[in-house]
Amino acid sequence: MKALVLAGGSGTRLRPITHTSAKQLVPVANKPVLFYGLESIAAAGITEVGVIVGETSDEIRQAVGGGTRFGLKITYIRQDLPLGLAHAVLIAQDWLGDDDFVMYLGDNFIVGGITGLVETFRESRPDAQILLTRVRDPRAFGVAELDAGGRVIGLEEKPERPRSDHALVGVYLFTPAIHEAVRAVRPSRRGELEITHALQHLIDTGADVRSTVIGGYWKDTGNVGDMLEVNRTVLEGLERRVDGEIDAESEIIGRVVVEAGARVGRSRVVGPAVIGAGSEVLHSYIGPFTSVGEYCHILDSEVEFSIVLRNASIRGVGRVESSLIGRYAEVTPAPLVPNAHRLVLGDHRKVQIHP
Ligand code: G1P
Repeated sequence: MKALVLAGGSGTRLRPITHTSAKQLVPVANKPVLFYGLESIAAAGITEVGVIVGETSDEIRQAVGGGTRFGLKITYIRQDLPLGLAHAVLIAQDWLGDDDFVMYLGDNFIVGGITGLVETFRESRPDAQILLTRVRDPRAFGVAELDAGGRVIGLEEKPERPRSDHALVGVYLFTPAIHEAVRAVRPSRRGELEITHALQHLIDTGADVRSTVIGGYWKDTGNVGDMLEVNRTVLEGLERRVDGEIDAESEIIGRVVVEAGARVGRSRVVGPAVIGAGSEVLHSYIGPFTSVGEYCHILDSEVEFSIVLRNASIRGVGRVESSLIGRYAEVTPAPLVPNAHRLVLGDHRKVQIHP
């Protein structure tokens, strides 16, 4: 069995918060979301991985390399234009050959990995197996309609009026039956060859398409609350490791990772939390469920339940909570304004002022 990992896309739909041109490199607990996918593929016993890259190819190749550090053998496959997920399967066909494969969208995060799913698929081997999860707003996803017995009866790509709240998760298990289906589909309204339509084609031609509903799923849809929540979930599984420099006046409590080259002085860090390499935390408090990226500066401040991306600085601002701070962002106190009202008030006027 092989894996086809999609790390292409033009990045045009990127949210301003992520600030990296490759959405697959958005960090979750200081690690690119794509790395969790690659690790879970390796954990499922798959070693041959094709990575589809597009406009952001250089950034992806630089981050992932040849795959040895994940225990994988990676082949890069170039998709010149973001023409859709079914198109990605089309151009990977030579590399995939007659093998079964898992297709994994590099911007998706599956809590708990895919080992169990891959095992079930290997044993029962339906023509295709999809994953579904219930979401609050299915309009940003492919949506599946199930019958009373839980069988997939119809699929729609980003419908305006979804027929269910079962969203398609970006992990699909395929036999070579998918190749004929991706050749059969025509471009959608958004001009892409949709894998959702290829799956619908399989269903229409009587193929065995099964679904599993999972919890613990995340994808960056620009929702800060969701991002903080997935960060929290990953930090929950952290093991303490302090490789950075901690001075005698600091306290590191619980499951905290302080990367080598990070410096903590006159501060208190309460886990689960991670402080990235090269960062400096001085005279501050870092509270639970906080990820501080590389080369950040946190001075005279308190940060809790937040994500601070690389090279950001937070200085002298008191408490910051439930926040997502972008790369190279600066948070500083507002200049002091005199706490007084300056008035030029005409004769007999009445003014109302908030005390
Ligand atoms: C794609 C699929 C969609 C699926 C989603 C999951 O959407 O087309 O059906 O629900 O991935 O991440 P896209 O990321 O291309 O908008």
